[in-house]
Amino acid sequence: MKVLVTYLSQTGNTEMVARAIYDSIDRTKEIHPFQEVTSVEGYGLVFVGFPVYGNSVPPKIQPFLKGLPKHLPVAFFHTHAALRGSELARTGIENALSLASHARVLGTFTCQGKVRPAVIESLKDKPEHKKWCEEAMTSYGHPDAADLADAREFAAGILAKATTLKG
Ligand SMILES: Cc1cc2nc3c(=O)[nH]c(=O)nc-3n(C[C@H](O)[C@H](O)[C@H](O)COP(=O)(O)O)c2cc1C
Repeated sequence: MKVLVTYLSQTGNTEMVARAIYDSIDRTKEIHPFQEVTSVEGYGLVFVGFPVYGNSVPPKIQPFLKGLPKHLPVAFFHTHAALRGSELARTGIENALSLASHARVLGTFTCQGKVRPAVIESLKDKPEHKKWCEEAMTSYGHPDAADLADAREFAAGILAKATTLKG
């Protein structure tokens, strides 16, 4: 089973997670930014990663998610400045799941990714962004070693699931 890890990353956080996942895979594998992927034909499993922007999947990568072949085993990972597990962090993955509802999603992974202090500074006085700014202030230093270890563990679980499917 050939595995593809692909991602969108503007400031490097999601790429760090992508590389941790890629390094932990003991199969034939490739890693590419999603812009370089012209076809996913021939892969038995595809990991797709992206950051959360504006509480959603970045528009750039949405067509890629929508275009994933029907029933292709996929797994999503995303980074966000909001706290892991918080409602603000969940929206991105929920959007991804609805965009790719036709694919066979084996699992999802999220962790925090640091945001530039200037972004928080520019939003912190706006009441609608107060909660996000409070959460985003805890994103410094992420993804950290523990996040990357979790990502590797996630990848191992997804590979085990995909192998069972191949049966
Ligand atoms: C313009 C902009 C919008 C963002 N919007 C959100 C958001 O809605 N929710 C969130 O939790 N983080 C948000 N973030 C933080 C990023 O999702 C986070 O830093 C992520 O790890 C960036 O990933 P990257 O380095 O792979 O690009 C935003 C960051 C920027 C610069």
